[in-house]
Amino acid sequence: MKGLVYDGEKAAIRDHLEVRDPGPTEVEVRIVAAGLCHSDLSVIDGTIPWPAPAVLGHEGAGIVERTGSAVTHVQPGDRVVLHTLASCGMCKFCNTGRPAWCRRSIGNASQPFTLDGEPAWNFAAASYFAERTVVQAGQCVPIGDDIPLESACLIGCGVLTGVGSVFNRTELGLGDTAVVFGVGGVGLNVIQACKVKGAQRIIAIDTVAEKQAQARLFGATDFVVAGAGVDSVAAVRELLPYDDEQVTGPFGAGGVDYAFDCVGHPEVLNAALEMLDWGGTAVVIGVPAPTATVPARIGNFTHVERNLIGSRAGSHRPHYDIPLIVDLYRQGELKLDELVTQTYELDDWQSAVHDLEAGKLARGVLQVSDA
Ligand SMILES: NC(=O)c1ccc[n+]([C@@H]2O[C@H](COP(=O)([O-])OP(=O)(O)OC[C@H]3O[C@@H](n4cnc5c(N)ncnc54)[C@H](O)[C@@H]3O)[C@@H](O)[C@H]2O)c1
Ligand SMILES: [Zn+2]
Ligand SMILES: [Zn+2]
Repeated sequence: MKGLVYDGEKAAIRDHLEVRDPGPTEVEVRIVAAGLCHSDLSVIDGTIPWPAPAVLGHEGAGIVERTGSAVTHVQPGDRVVLHTLASCGMCKFCNTGRPAWCRRSIGNASQPFTLDGEPAWNFAAASYFAERTVVQAGQCVPIGDDIPLESACLIGCGVLTGVGSVFNRTELGLGDTAVVFGVGGVGLNVIQACKVKGAQRIIAIDTVAEKQAQARLFGATDFVVAGAGVDSVAAVRELLPYDDEQVTGPFGAGGVDYAFDCVGHPEVLNAALEMLDWGGTAVVIGVPAPTATVPARIGNFTHVERNLIGSRAGSHRPHYDIPLIVDLYRQGELKLDELVTQTYELDDWQSAVHDLEAGKLARGVLQVSDA
């Protein structure tokens, strides 16, 4: 079979790729569609270090092909959404609603593939840019026939991460205000989750002015174009002032209750912290290089009780959050189809990368095999 393989320097479509048989608790899935998340590009450009050769792709949907002897919740032929949390199901965190903290699910690289007969790594326990892959049974969440797999595949990372960051990592509710940096596949899902939760103002910020229409379609009430010479902190305080009279000291007043960094840049994160209202929370979602640090004023925490928290894949509980997302999609509360700007043949993956880097995509989806 073929798949998109990172060789340590670059990525290319490679033939002569094979995947081993599923073990007793594993499932072999034929991938139909897989979304291109920025994290795949971050492997190729070295921002996310990963052993090579590795089969990329970590946001997918497909059809169950074979199941291990101990697997009962899916059968061959089932349509499934695939995610990345190969959590163990046994540990303290798995059993207290925190599978994203399961040690088995962190950095879970293994070598289920061979390339030209030599062992090859998976990526994020996933590797959905290949015609077939083998995953832990728990990574398969069955869905009905009413969602196109081209839309459903996006749930596995971008939707879970964006929606879960709001639903599972914050207490954002009716009347709250939020900033979302980065109107990509993840940021759009943060925006629509804020809307579902009843946020009063949702300010989207992106360097690409053309992202405004997408941001507003998903629920943004305001849009700020970031870039050289733009003080995004001042722009947000102007949109959400406290009052003109009050003396507020070096930490300002007004601003937002939540700021989500869906970019992955220290300066963005610092701006996120500085534009919070007192007591507000900045949520780190974007992934910069492993050496990146936060250049934050500590007074943000000691003087005005701002918070800085992280989100790994929206801290999701796959078999609860994925059916919830599907249900909200069916009710018209969450958009999935509108996230798919364009589909590409797997062989044409470079066009998808080009369009993502050019700021043209909500998400690009690779058609890996026929539905
Ligand atoms: N924490 C997690 O579990 C998790 C999961 C998925 C993705 N990610 C990370 O989230 C980030 C976003 O992923 P994505 O797939 O949505 O990417 P994307 O490329 O689709 O979107 C990124 C957006 O940020 C914008 N942008 C770039 N620089 C900016 C700046 N300085 N200010 C404002 N906007 C800026 C781009 O124009 C683009 O619209 C990436 O770093 C990715 O690795 C993290
Ligand atoms: Zn991702
Ligand atoms: Zn566990």
